[in-house]
Amino acid sequence: MRTVIQSGPEVVRRAADLLAAGELVALPTETVYGVGADATNPDAVARIYAAKGRPGNNPLIAHIPDISAAERICQSFPSKAYALAERFWPGPLTLVLPRRQHGDGVVCERAVAGGKTVAVRCPGHPMALDILRAVGRPIAAPSANRSGGTSPTSPAHVAAEFDGIVELIVDGGECLVGLESTVLDLSCSTPTILRPGAITAEMLATVLELNPLDLSLTEMSRASPAEGEALKSPGLLWRHYAPKTKAFRYEVSQVPAIRRWLLEKTNVAIAQLALSPSSVLPHARERFNMPAEPMLYAREFYRTLRLADACGSDCILIEMPMGQTGLWAAILDRLRRATEPWSPEAAL
Ligand code: TXA
Ligand code: MG
Repeated sequence: MRTVIQSGPEVVRRAADLLAAGELVALPTETVYGVGADATNPDAVARIYAAKGRPGNNPLIAHIPDISAAERICQSFPSKAYALAERFWPGPLTLVLPRRQHGDGVVCERAVAGGKTVAVRCPGHPMALDILRAVGRPIAAPSANRSGGTSPTSPAHVAAEFDGIVELIVDGGECLVGLESTVLDLSCSTPTILRPGAITAEMLATVLELNPLDLSLTEMSRASPAEGEALKSPGLLWRHYAPKTKAFRYEVSQVPAIRRWLLEKTNVAIAQLALSPSSVLPHARERFNMPAEPMLYAREFYRTLRLADACGSDCILIEMPMGQTGLWAAILDRLRRATEPWSPEAAL
């Protein structure tokens, strides 16, 4: 199969036709590119899992163009969901709700990994919305990367992994947000952020009239749920979004120790994602100066991680940002999953 990368007005019809025929199509969204398939068609959905090498127990997000399409695939759409959808859709917020199991146009069991809930998202990219409207069915779309790897924020990133595997890559330019959507679980008694994103805890808390701290899973419960309790969302597994090159995160206070560690090594080359101008390290093949502003940092993060991964270094060293709240929470989450903490005992 020859993969076509296409933009322009005709691509919407073409993408919708391919999706309706059960084919895979890579789609732009405001967060990251997704690899989409008809969520009502189990065979089409199975092809997503195969293409990504994704474990079958990790459910997919169903993309819809508006609130009424979301209502059709959910068992119920509570007032909290309306309030949030009206405020933040189209946009980078995914809501987990009880799913409708029977009837026309519902999401198939395979797409939700056999679960009783469905994650619904109305993406804030005009081409994605046009395609969703044209196809008239929910579209399952995980990030268009091999399972566990770095998410794609441009058509070229998708082509690097899915050339010859998807029929069509819809070219909608570079993703503006750059990090995957916030996933908020509304199927349990207290709304819980399963994955932080650009719709921040603070923004959600304002609409829900709650304390932002009460919305977040603790680090502990994320990594290892209480005994007998299922992992809330298999995508929360620790190692994720990772480059192929060994990647370490460090605090700026560790720079002198890292310098000593590197100076003891010969014939090593590193790539660095730095924030502080003073954190110059030896043996740097590439130094990427990351933006201090979180929106820009998020937008550039995966692209820079891919560049660092491709420059042929022995390891990537990433300076942890100081910010903790708002969008920084989402950035820190991705950094922690993509890296291991550096220590003087770290081996290369
Ligand atoms: O921004 C995004 O959300 C992108 C774009 C393409 O829309 N999609 C994306 O999909 O990030 P994916 O599959 O890479 O991540 C979806 C996350 C996973 O962690 C998955 O476990 C979780 O959402 N998820 C999906 N359905 C769920 C459900 N019913 N309950 C709990 N978690 C769910
Ligand atoms: Mg993903």
